[in-house]
Amino acid sequence: MTKPNNCDHSLAYQSSHLLNMDHTITMEVDESTESRNQARLRILELANMISVPMSLNAIVRLNIPDAIWQNGANIPLSASQILSSSSSRLSHTADAENLQRILRLLTSHGVFNEHADDHSGDRKYSLTDVGRTLVTDSSGLSYGAYVLQHHQERLMRAWPLVHEAVLDASVEPFVKANGGVTAYECYGKDEEMNGLMLSAMSGVSVPFMKALLDGYDGFDGVEKLVDVGGSAGDCLRMILEKHGNIKEGINFDLPEVVARAPNIPGVTHVGGDMFQKIPTADAIFMKWILTTWTDEECKLIMTNCNKALPKGGKLIACEPVLPEKSDDSHRTRALLAGDIFVMTIYRAKGKHRTEEEFRKLGIAAGFSHFRAFYVDYFYTVLEFQK
Ligand SMILES: C[S@@+](CC[C@H](N)C(=O)[O-])C[C@H]1O[C@@H](n2cnc3c(N)ncnc32)[C@H](O)[C@@H]1O
Repeated sequence: MTKPNNCDHSLAYQSSHLLNMDHTITMEVDESTESRNQARLRILELANMISVPMSLNAIVRLNIPDAIWQNGANIPLSASQILSSSSSRLSHTADAENLQRILRLLTSHGVFNEHADDHSGDRKYSLTDVGRTLVTDSSGLSYGAYVLQHHQERLMRAWPLVHEAVLDASVEPFVKANGGVTAYECYGKDEEMNGLMLSAMSGVSVPFMKALLDGYDGFDGVEKLVDVGGSAGDCLRMILEKHGNIKEGINFDLPEVVARAPNIPGVTHVGGDMFQKIPTADAIFMKWILTTWTDEECKLIMTNCNKALPKGGKLIACEPVLPEKSDDSHRTRALLAGDIFVMTIYRAKGKHRTEEEFRKLGIAAGFSHFRAFYVDYFYTVLEFQK
């Protein structure tokens, strides 16, 4: 961005001191400087940021990624070509110009590539690697379900109340916005929410588990493994497929969740409550569990894990781990944004934690050894040994 006049760029703020009637000193800011211009632009970008996730939600609802992907063709298509493609679920009244507006915004956020014809002014769109995560695979999975799950009406109601998590952390914004019911209680009562949660978890977990199983050998020697909060059982299925040494897998989750889980060879689905008792095993796996609970609740879950393990047994937890310092990298932003999601939806004092915070939780729960493996940019493998 160029500066509109010839002022000295080294003077970020040209200010004079003004004495107000109440004797406070205010700074009169020169709004023509480069830094002020950037600041005004950036705050408008942030203030309108909601357009980004809602546009993402819209293209998943409209099935746009599948319509462009066409079994791997990924041929650039115009908005009207996308609308007339057989994969989209669109009516004859659909508006190509409005779709193009959404595609342009998401292009600037790396979801689509734009192919513009300078002569005709036509624009066509293909998927980037980021956009490809939204394409449904042969098992019917994608990150699309996660996008939809995060933007369901009941969750959306909680977002205007984020400030209340600061004013009163004893009740979650989600609970306040939904008549006193927690998110997990909602999933349990509402078939549609429960189903979407299961597909969202599968869509995110399966690609991560492929990366985990390629880069981590901590399941060697394990014969009986419990997955605590295992949802539909995808993680356990994949671990068992890779590690023939594991003879018995137990998928442990809330009764209403395991009731909907599919049959998986070698896996027994067990309904229960991890705050009460966890089935015994040589090793315990858990993914994306500790994050949604307070320190005290995590200590209780991990102590119950400790009780269920033999001496030397391992708790293998995969959780987002926050960097010590804040910065503007995609990794830090994804982890910090997830932290606010947890605060708003699940537990006002549930949180993303640093490696050091996890190490301390492990000691408090009775584990004697701790190691962290960074096999994925989002989830870290945390190994606690009894
Ligand atoms: C964020 S999901 C993670 C699911 C799965 N581990 C994954 O990563 O795909 C959290 C899981 O914890 C389960 N859960 C919540 N409260 C629980 C409890 N008290 N006992 C057992 N499981 C529970 C939920 O039903 C849900 O499946």
